[in-house]
Amino acid sequence: MAQTFSKVLVAGGAGFIGSHFARLLLREHGIAAVVYDKLTYAGNLDNLADMDGDPGFAFVQGDIADAGALALAAHGCDAIVNFAAETHVDRSIADPEAFLETDVTGTYRLMQTALELGIGKVVQVSTDEVYGDVAAGSADEDWPLVPSSPYSASKAAGDLLAFAFARTYRLPVCVTRGSNTYGPNQYPEKLIPLFVTNALEGLSLPLYGDGLQRRDWLHVEDHARGVATVLFEGEPGQAYNVGGGNERTNREITDIILRELDLPASAVKHVEDRPGHDRRYSLDSSKLKTLGWQPLMAFERGITQTIRWYRDNRAWWERIKSGEAFTQWRERWYAGRE
Ligand code: NAD
Ligand code: DAU
Repeated sequence: MAQTFSKVLVAGGAGFIGSHFARLLLREHGIAAVVYDKLTYAGNLDNLADMDGDPGFAFVQGDIADAGALALAAHGCDAIVNFAAETHVDRSIADPEAFLETDVTGTYRLMQTALELGIGKVVQVSTDEVYGDVAAGSADEDWPLVPSSPYSASKAAGDLLAFAFARTYRLPVCVTRGSNTYGPNQYPEKLIPLFVTNALEGLSLPLYGDGLQRRDWLHVEDHARGVATVLFEGEPGQAYNVGGGNERTNREITDIILRELDLPASAVKHVEDRPGHDRRYSLDSSKLKTLGWQPLMAFERGITQTIRWYRDNRAWWERIKSGEAFTQWRERWYAGRE
């Protein structure tokens, strides 16, 4: 039976997917959303601007690892959905510490707080990267967890903590494992927004290694709807894959961007590969489909709309790319790889 909720705390809701999810709750489901977010370099109040002033919307700045502040913000909420995380694989390779603090300790504190408050449902938003390289076939939820990077290892630890809390303390928590997500409002350190905005700025597109790594692309609104389905229908203690069903190599993605922006192949710069780079991710999402979810956005339409969104919303990403957090990262990571 579907659960209903009146007010949901959306941790990490000032980021990419969480902000789309908060909007989905408010606008499509009439559910109040309290966005709780630390506002790290990736958190962005611009992502929430259109909801500001809505009586069903509130924003609280805070860290999920700060149990006291989290408990105050969650007062009156009947569910918590946790998007809060350090999310960039390359940053986890350069500096893993923050990933352990948020994705492991922060996730633990969030679940402990939810337990103490008697929260009716918790969704821990995780990733297909916990399965590591999927050389052939598609990973279902029972696939072994073989994470490759400090990021995916920290997310896998969060998944295991969630299952432990479900079994030992009967916390009603589900885990979602989404595939590579794209769409408006994604921080421009990730492949698609980095390449599109670099192309728009006249900069080169730094393709790692041979560019033949494969990812399964999922539109952000489909990802948000998948998480909502698990919130309403998911069985506690269970994981649910949320895959787009659109496998593409990085070269194919790059070619689409070049074509859409009318740029030559020479705009691509082949750079040193990411250490430990997973070659392929692929998800079997049939379990979530039995709950009525399926991805609705056709990839060709979604990627074209996304490229156009970055073209038409330069102020959104120019503010980020001209800031210190971004420029220091670019110098630190890319300078030595060319
Ligand atoms: P993002 O980096 O855009 O946003 C993360 C948000 O979390 C930011 O607003 C940040 O300020 C906030 N945050 C970070 N540490 C925090 C802390 N300690 N306390 C409170 N807030 C904190 O990330 P995203 O791409 O929207 O990803 C959201 C979730 O979805 C993550 O858990 C990620 O692992 C997962 N995921 C992402 C993808 C993808 O392709 N983007 C795919 C599958 C799963
Ligand atoms: O699969 C889900 C995951 O997808 C999420 O859990 C992560 O939070 C999210 O960041 C994403 O991880 P990836 O490592 O797959 O995404 P990223 O955009 O960093 O890279 C996608 C692919 O593009 C990957 O094979 C590396 C490659 N790449 C990336 C960058 C930033 C490049 O070739 N050049 C680049 O400059």
